[in-house]
Amino acid sequence: MSSDSLIDLRSDTVTRPTEAMRAVMAKAPVGDMQYGDDPSLNALEARVAELLGKEAALWLPSGTMANQVALRVLTHPGDDVLVGTEAHSVWHEAGGSAANAGVQFTEIGSDGVFTAADVREHVKPANSPVLPIPGTTLVQVENTHNRHGGTVWEQAELDAIGETARALSLAYYLDGARLWNAAVASGSSPARIAAPFDMVAVAFSKGLGAPAGSVLTGPRVLIEQAVRHRRMLGGAMRQVGMLAAACDYGLSHHYERLAVDHEHAQLIASKLSTCPSIRLAPSPTNIVVFELQDTDVSAMELVIGARAQSVLINALGPRKLRLLTHLDVNRAQCLRAAEVLLQLLA
Ligand SMILES: Cc1ncc(COP(=O)(O)O)c(C=O)c1O
Repeated sequence: MSSDSLIDLRSDTVTRPTEAMRAVMAKAPVGDMQYGDDPSLNALEARVAELLGKEAALWLPSGTMANQVALRVLTHPGDDVLVGTEAHSVWHEAGGSAANAGVQFTEIGSDGVFTAADVREHVKPANSPVLPIPGTTLVQVENTHNRHGGTVWEQAELDAIGETARALSLAYYLDGARLWNAAVASGSSPARIAAPFDMVAVAFSKGLGAPAGSVLTGPRVLIEQAVRHRRMLGGAMRQVGMLAAACDYGLSHHYERLAVDHEHAQLIASKLSTCPSIRLAPSPTNIVVFELQDTDVSAMELVIGARAQSVLINALGPRKLRLLTHLDVNRAQCLRAAEVLLQLLA
């Protein structure tokens, strides 16, 4: 089976750089990033800081490292972090948050979102001999939310949580790996979504189609600390201008078309919704998450059955599955994928 004949919906990270993106990468001016000499990288960081309305920005090789560096900057070992259920940091970062930042997570709310009241209810006070010292120091949001189906947060809730965090002297961080999708789906601007947060990370290796790269933004004083943590975690690189050029290209050429990925995900969801064995989470962006019900078929059996027909999806649990639409799948392939899944469950 050649990779070209596969309909790969395991993630939006599977996209390969387009010919046009590769051409831009090949010609990108480069220099040593750690001496501040890479013009392509410097331009990307300045562009993203401005786009998100933050003072400064720092490129990192991955979204996971962006989250890890943010935790190192915003917390101390032993701190408690409030986070929505099934956050990427809790599920998919190989325990890095405990190992690298030494924090504990408290999951709050439901379906990946929570309210300012949830924050007030779960915040742990400082200076207790039995609670984490100095208690809760950070509130972390994931927008869109991966494991809950690409959920887009309400801006009013993000703002209200920001006010509460400030009132309680908590830092406020956005894992915005798919902030672009949230902005396109809500018709909002990246800066508006980012406004209430102290620090925001965005990714380029997902819907925007770059081979690697995330950017962490925030006040200059915090970004200066992030430079050191990036180095400590081994993420300080050299002539990354070629990757920065790919990120820049993705932002210029693949941003608006995220709406197409959203349409494709909604198309798949609408087809799957006809199957009584499937319970779908809402799919407002490019992620379709569903659970199997009233069927003996397990998530893994569905994954294997689909793979045999060249459709790749992921199991998130014994009965929970996820698929993502992206640049490298078209409408006909999305329809075909839905048809294969429906046949397997018929
Ligand atoms: C919400 C979220 N945050 C962070 C990441 C990590 O990104 P990376 O795979 O670049 O480490 C992902 C990856 O899918 C993600 O979905």
